[in-house]
Amino acid sequence: MHLSEQGIYYGDYLQLDKILNAQDLESEKAGKTAHDEMLFIVTHQAYELWFKQVIYEIDSILCLFEQPVIHDNSPDFYTIFHRLSRVKTILQLLVKQIDIMETMTPLDFLDFRNLLRPASGFQSVQFKVVEAALGLKQPDRHGELYYISQLRPEHAAAIQKIEERRSLLELTNEWLERMPFFKDAGLWERYAPAFPVQEGLHPFWSDYFQLYGLSLLDNERGNLTRFERFFINDEETPFGKLSFEARRNALFIMLYRDFPLFHLHYQYLSLLLDMDEMMSTWRFRHINMVNRIIGLRTGTGGSTGKDYLKAALDRHYIFNEIAALTTFLIERRSLPVLPAELQQRLGFVVK
Ligand code: HEM
Repeated sequence: MHLSEQGIYYGDYLQLDKILNAQDLESEKAGKTAHDEMLFIVTHQAYELWFKQVIYEIDSILCLFEQPVIHDNSPDFYTIFHRLSRVKTILQLLVKQIDIMETMTPLDFLDFRNLLRPASGFQSVQFKVVEAALGLKQPDRHGELYYISQLRPEHAAAIQKIEERRSLLELTNEWLERMPFFKDAGLWERYAPAFPVQEGLHPFWSDYFQLYGLSLLDNERGNLTRFERFFINDEETPFGKLSFEARRNALFIMLYRDFPLFHLHYQYLSLLLDMDEMMSTWRFRHINMVNRIIGLRTGTGGSTGKDYLKAALDRHYIFNEIAALTTFLIERRSLPVLPAELQQRLGFVVK
């Protein structure tokens, strides 16, 4: 028997007959093949394949986070971290892929551009699913109604279904809220407050508020009010993307990230910022590409083109409340010393 007839065959396994025959050039159908349309299709298809992988990874992360508890001794949190790191690496590649698309010049694009109307990357359902799974809700989208009008009803419904599931942002909020260290009063019994404890505040946060105030320059005093609104003043401030408790716990992780237990937690929070950074870097590069390829003309999807994309770039940050936490850090050497019991919980167990 010929080798190619035994067991699995490369091309069959990868279904290359489907993938490699899925490039139908509109310009060819119209009778005059535009050379760069092949690049245009292949680039978009490569993006969509990677979006598929990104969604696959994020879905598995959401499933892990949906458990009522994630034990520190289980592999789950590391798995979440590892898979989200993979998503970051894929997004880095997706930013780089714009270099290839930019080898197409405006004149080359004009050879087939009008044949594509009204199709547009704007209709990429998978791109919107990624945004929704990370935590972008429809009311927070720029041009939310325009976006629905551009999609087939079943595609709009698919995105809405993802929006109804708890997103990575919401599940991270819940995970942060579950952090046990401020719930266990016993861990703080031997905490010695450096300042008189403000009513209604945990002694640690009461001290931290004072220390933060002392760390500010005169022209930064306004940040003290911001601190109150962001972490303390439950009644007057509307709930943001993260609850007060989740914000305080995230700040605590950032402040004490040198303790072993927090190493991975801190890196996870940094990864969330990487998500926003990669998505916005992609948006920025896409805008510049659009600018050099179609200038100020409207998109094939009928939007204002560059202006629409710029507004989406500004509005679609998802983890900006985590990024904002750095406003409230103080120098390491001024940090309150944690009680021995808590230090032990956050460290490696040494016999
Ligand atoms: C010649 C290259 C490209 C041009 C001129 C271009 C142009 C545009 C324009 C003008 C829009 C706004 C909607 C519209 O009116 O059509 C848009 C949206 C979009 N494009 Fe592209 N695009 C290009 C390549 C790509 C590639 C390679 C991808 C990869 C998937 C992509 C994905 C998207 C996505 C996801 C949106 C929606 C963005 C958002 O809602 O924030 N585009 N594009």
